[in-house]
Amino acid sequence: MNRNLSLNLARVTEAAALSAGKFQGKGDKNGADKAAVDAMRRMFDQIEIDGIVVIGEGEIDEAPMLYIGEHIGSDSKGYDKVDISVDPIDGTTAISEGRSNAIAVLAVSPRGTMLNAPDVYMKKIACGPRAKGCIDLDDSPTENIKRVAKALNKNVSEVTVAVLDRPRHDEMINEIRQLGARIKKVSDGDILTAIEACFDESGIDLMMGVGGAPEGVIAAAALKCLGGDFQGRLNPTDEAQKERCLKLHSDLNKIYTIEDLVKGDEVIFSATGVTTGEILEGVKYHKNNMATTESLVLRLPSGTVRRIKSTHKLSQKPEYAK
Ligand code: FBP
Repeated sequence: MNRNLSLNLARVTEAAALSAGKFQGKGDKNGADKAAVDAMRRMFDQIEIDGIVVIGEGEIDEAPMLYIGEHIGSDSKGYDKVDISVDPIDGTTAISEGRSNAIAVLAVSPRGTMLNAPDVYMKKIACGPRAKGCIDLDDSPTENIKRVAKALNKNVSEVTVAVLDRPRHDEMINEIRQLGARIKKVSDGDILTAIEACFDESGIDLMMGVGGAPEGVIAAAALKCLGGDFQGRLNPTDEAQKERCLKLHSDLNKIYTIEDLVKGDEVIFSATGVTTGEILEGVKYHKNNMATTESLVLRLPSGTVRRIKSTHKLSQKPEYAK
């Protein structure tokens, strides 16, 4: 894939973040999501790409834009043929409630390399590069935490596990507490949380729990670029979800490794903060009609981790100034 795609893809997530940022705390998650989807779709039109949306806003009858299977760009100009996974906003509730951790995010890889994950839950575990190879979804939280602690040369009591704050995680939280590890409860946004396990400054060593399967694929794309590790297993909660899974994947017990989720050696990932998280600033509005954004842009072939801090003159971008 053309390495210069990275900057253009950063523009796509910046556009989505700038459009959604003004909804912070306003109690309108659908408004924030729609603004991000519209902006992302508009910006994709300006990119030289021949893409198919693999992970998106839903099936064609559920989503007018960025639906699964939607073609983005041109297939007649010799552009890179790619899979596109998008989550215009991961953390719509976080934005509408004015909480941290919401991002606009996407990942792109060569055609046919990203898993087509159904919109069901996924049981997940993620860690950073130093603990790669030490996680196993079939093992208990206790076993995983002990192995990760050893790899990080820490006591178990010094390991911090990030967990989405949901009642379904109560049992796991009790087990982690019994073991004596630290817990960081996260209200929303397990893509960014998984990524944070790769950054020392986040203070997070491991992410565990059940979240969205599409989010799992996007997180895996980022962790692959960062040299981290990720495993996921589809976790349908009713018969209808089970059927949706079985249409796409025959083995519901399969543990998907990072390689199963995103194959090959080419991935570009971009995330722009909408509300501030541990490693990414959210959109900030300043005097003189200016706004700033911070994006994390990753490219697997080079391993480069870019943080792009941009200042936007909203007077020259009236679509974001409302
Ligand atoms: P949305 O932006 O779609 O609301 O997703 C936010 C999120 O926290 C994801 O990061 C996570 O995978 C999922 O929701 C968890 O689902 P639930 O809120 O149903 O527990």
